[in-house]
Amino acid sequence: KVKEITVTVNGEKHTVNVKENKTLLQFLREDLALTGTKEGCGAGECGACTVIMNGKAVNSCLVLAVEADGAEIITIEGITKDGELSKIQKAFIKHQAFQCGFCTPGMIMSAKALLDRNPNPTEEEIKEAIAGNLCRCTGYFPVIDAIKDVVE
Ligand code: FES
Ligand code: FES
Repeated sequence: KVKEITVTVNGEKHTVNVKENKTLLQFLREDLALTGTKEGCGAGECGACTVIMNGKAVNSCLVLAVEADGAEIITIEGITKDGELSKIQKAFIKHQAFQCGFCTPGMIMSAKALLDRNPNPTEEEIKEAIAGNLCRCTGYFPVIDAIKDVVE
């Protein structure tokens, strides 16, 4: 079955018909061509698909598009301004906090959700915020350093 939903993504409102079994991740990637958000496990385990929904980091592979009806979503594409990278993105580059980069959009969205609600997190709080984001290449220390750099 198909249902009409209205979702605001990166400040832009979209009213579209989506299949009821389509995930928010598929909706973002396939319907809106926002392919910065990645699919890793597709099962809520890896965090590659993390986006911000109504201010909270969520695994978009676990949310149905119809559940996002009326929601405000921010994806990795939404955090650059006029083509300029955000502070957190620059810090990831500076600290070499990625190798293949597959986990990076999710890591950055988890970090952003944390920093938006708590601009001054402790190292523990940073670790907790990215606990659901798996990285198989870089290790987590450069990521933590990058987030700390934005805080300081
Ligand atoms: Fe969503 Fe892995 S793709 S948590
Ligand atoms: Fe490759 Fe994290 S940089 S998975």
